[in-house]
Amino acid sequence: MDTDYESRIVTPEYSSSEDGETELSLRPKRIEEYIGQEKVKENLKIYIEAAKSRNETLDHVLLYGPPGLGKTTLAGIIANEMGVNIRVTSGPAIEKPGDLAALLTNLNVGDVLFIDEIHRLNRSVEEVLYPAMEDSALDIIIGKGPSARSIRLDLPKFTLVGATTRAGQLSAPLRDRFGVICRLELYTPEELSLIVKRSAGILDIEADDGGAMEIASRSRGTPRIANRLLKRARDFAQVIGDGVINRESAKSALDRMEIDKLGLDSVDRLLLTAMIKNYNGGPVGLETIAAAIGEEAVTIEDVYEPYLMQIGFLSRTPRGRMVTPAGYAHVGIPMPGQQKLF
Ligand SMILES: Nc1ncnc2c1ncn2[C@@H]1O[C@H](COP(=O)(O)OP(=O)(O)OP(=O)(O)O)[C@@H](O)[C@H]1O
Ligand SMILES: [Mg+2]
Repeated sequence: MDTDYESRIVTPEYSSSEDGETELSLRPKRIEEYIGQEKVKENLKIYIEAAKSRNETLDHVLLYGPPGLGKTTLAGIIANEMGVNIRVTSGPAIEKPGDLAALLTNLNVGDVLFIDEIHRLNRSVEEVLYPAMEDSALDIIIGKGPSARSIRLDLPKFTLVGATTRAGQLSAPLRDRFGVICRLELYTPEELSLIVKRSAGILDIEADDGGAMEIASRSRGTPRIANRLLKRARDFAQVIGDGVINRESAKSALDRMEIDKLGLDSVDRLLLTAMIKNYNGGPVGLETIAAAIGEEAVTIEDVYEPYLMQIGFLSRTPRGRMVTPAGYAHVGIPMPGQQKLF
């Protein structure tokens, strides 16, 4: 990751340590506190209740969607609602099949094993996961060469909760072993404003309706960004205003951070203008855009694009990405072939 990306205030990635501390206290613990994602919540509630009433372990759950939308939070909620323990790990942290075997054999019946970034599991580890998910069994190879044989150990029945920003990168055999697949969507400004108010309450920050809405509408549909902007807006309100976040103080704070009305920052605008100026607005390939603005292609795909597409500034075609008329209008460049209206 380059420095620009690190310092980007609207990045949804989990970065500074200050965020780390409050992030824990801001995480909803029960499903009733979790705002938005109504469809996902409704379904999960039913599956959880059904599993509990049958005294069974919840089926394996895959959560996917852009960063900062609440996948890790939801995994914790699933464990809480099921009344079980959660073990947290991530794809890249499990280096060898033995690492996974150690995790699995330490679970209790019904426990949740949460694997973040599950698309980054390596192949040999993934193969250990298949029988574990399907038959609650661990196949261990003993010996080497022709005399090697495999023995099967029983595991406690557990629930795997996998999270990924890129469901498309999951291998088909792994994806097929999840009984429940939930796709998280970007949040509406109304939902985000509820999240901002909830967070303000927990952090003892005064924010009125207008202030909360102003922050919400510039948070790119992402709770993690909303929480971060709330904290920065508080700084501005304290130093420059009377400490209360209202529409005006939120507005001036966000303007100073160069976050525009729609939550776009200088990088988003650079992406749009580079596509327009260098490639006539597209279609242009992801790698080409990445090279043009000095970002990694995966970052563009996971972090920038989902929101730019949601607000209708970018479209994806088989031949590449294109800037839409709305995208042109936002950066104030007339579209070729269109008359300048003002
Ligand atoms: N539905 C929600 N209601 C209230 N707060 C939420 C909700 N979803 C997320 N948050 C807040 O947003 C923050 C980020 O959520 P979380 O860490 O679960 O995202 P994530 O999807 O796991 O992100 P990543 O892909 O980066 O791991 C949390 O600290 C939490 O406070
Ligand atoms: Mg997470």
